[in-house]
Amino acid sequence: MRVLFIGDIFSTPGMKVVLAYLQGSRQEYDFVIANGENAAGGFGITRKHFQQLRQAGVDVVTLGNHGWDQAEALELAEETPRLVRAANYPPGTPGVGAATFEARTGERITVVQVMGRVFMDALDDPFRAADAVLEGLPGEQAVVVDVHAEATSEKKVMLYHLAGRVSAVIGTHTHVQTADETVMRGTAYVTDVGMSGVQASSIGMGFEEVHARFVHKLPRRYRPAQGRATLCGAVLELEGGRARSIRRLRWPAPEGD
Ligand SMILES: [Fe+2]
Ligand SMILES: [Fe+2]
Repeated sequence: MRVLFIGDIFSTPGMKVVLAYLQGSRQEYDFVIANGENAAGGFGITRKHFQQLRQAGVDVVTLGNHGWDQAEALELAEETPRLVRAANYPPGTPGVGAATFEARTGERITVVQVMGRVFMDALDDPFRAADAVLEGLPGEQAVVVDVHAEATSEKKVMLYHLAGRVSAVIGTHTHVQTADETVMRGTAYVTDVGMSGVQASSIGMGFEEVHARFVHKLPRRYRPAQGRATLCGAVLELEGGRARSIRRLRWPAPEGD
């Protein structure tokens, strides 16, 4: 099956480019996963954004450290397993950290998210959380893990930890697409799938305010960048629960490609 993973959708420009891409290309994929933690102006996701993505053909939306920035997400997570938060939150956290769905091919696919702990909030162990999810699953089934983490090392070690046991380990959160896509023992991997939004920005926010914060230590409020947006994603070809290939996607293609 062919799976599309869309990187962190950032604010209105990110939503627009993702919806435009899916309008023309959704039928090329058997299953679509999107990270939506920044859909609402950079901070979380609302019911409206979630519904727009679902209507456009996104099967599952994953969250991240911004997952609960909008209170509506807490309600949504209780209502639907199609909004997946990190599996390594403490027991009792609303929502699910993994859920299994049926792709267009009729095959089963499980989507998992784990969140890193290096340079991020302290959570439960993401490695053991991933192990716990896999314990209950048949080995030949497709499993895509969104590793939402800051440190490249932690993401790559997650690949090593899960290689041969899942279909893909896809990095999110740092918002800049990395060029290190690979397949290790049947597990597709990229350190960061990139952000879907305005690339000429401070990882989604306008330069001016972030510059003032860095250079003059002014308490300027972040504002989402406006302008030309690009969808960043990864296309996975899966067979019998293992990856045959991973291809990075940027749409529209940057000038010069
Ligand atoms: Fe993000
Ligand atoms: Fe994040």
